[in-house]
Amino acid sequence: MGFKEQIDVTRLPEHIAIIMDGNGRWAKNQGKFRHFGHESGVLSVKDIVEGCADIGIKYLTVYAFSTENWNRPIEEVNALMELLISTINQETATLNKNNIRLNAIGDISSLPQKCIDDLKSAMENTAKNTRCTLTLALSYSAKWEIIEAAKKLAQKVKDQEINIDEINESTFSAQLTTTDIPDPELMIRTSGEHRVSNFLLWQMAYTELYFTDTLWPDFRREDLFEAIVDYQKRERRFGKISEQLN
Ligand code: FPP
Repeated sequence: MGFKEQIDVTRLPEHIAIIMDGNGRWAKNQGKFRHFGHESGVLSVKDIVEGCADIGIKYLTVYAFSTENWNRPIEEVNALMELLISTINQETATLNKNNIRLNAIGDISSLPQKCIDDLKSAMENTAKNTRCTLTLALSYSAKWEIIEAAKKLAQKVKDQEINIDEINESTFSAQLTTTDIPDPELMIRTSGEHRVSNFLLWQMAYTELYFTDTLWPDFRREDLFEAIVDYQKRERRFGKISEQLN
C-alpha cells in the first residue's frame, strides 16, 4: 500500500510549512552549478503543491528565500530572483486551473521591482481561488516579522488605539504576516538539517517537526504523503497528558 492510501483524510493537517533545503548539494552531487538545483527544486514545488491540493491540504507555506539568503553570492541571488519571476509568470494559469490562491509573506518591498509587480499581479489573479493557499515566504525571517509586529503594536499604544493590557497572543498574532492563516500543524525540512532557521518561529510553537535526508529536488508527493502518515501517528498533547486527550 502506498503512503497516500495510508492517510486518514479526516485528520489532515490544515497547514503544512516546508523548508526546501538541499538544492545546492543536489546540483553539486551531479557536477552541476547550484542554479541547476534551484531550477529542479521548482519541479518539486509544483509536484508538492498539486499533491497538497489533491488530498485536501488547505494551506501550504514554502520558505523560498530567507532574509539571510541576501548574503549569498550576488549571481545566485539574481538567479533566484529571475527563477522566481519566471516561475510565477509560467505557473499562474496552472494555479487558476487548480483553484489555488497565491500568497506571499516577508519583506516583499526589498525584492526587485519586477518581482514585486509580477508577484502582486499573480496574487490578484488568483485571489478568488479557494481550494488551497500557497504562501511563498520571500525575504522572510521570523525575527523580522516579530519585530515588525511589536513595532505596529507599540504604535497603536502610542496612538491610544489600544491599551497596553490588550496586548495578548491574539492581538499579537493579528499583526503577523500570517494573520489570515492558521498555524502549521506540520513542518517538513529536507536535506538532513535539523533546524528551523528563523522560519515561522511564533507560528510553530506547537508544530510537529519532520526531518528527512531527501534533498529538495528529489522530494515528491509520495515523500509528502509519507510525512503526513508519520504526523498522523503522533500524539499532540499541547502540554496535557495522554489521558486528558479525547
Ligand atoms: C535551499 O537550498 C533552497 C533555497 C534557498 C531556495 C529555494 C528555491 C527554490 C526551490 C526555487 C524557487 C521557488 C519558487 C517557489 C519559485 P540550498 O541552496 O540552501 O541548498 P544547499 O543547502 O544544498 O546549499
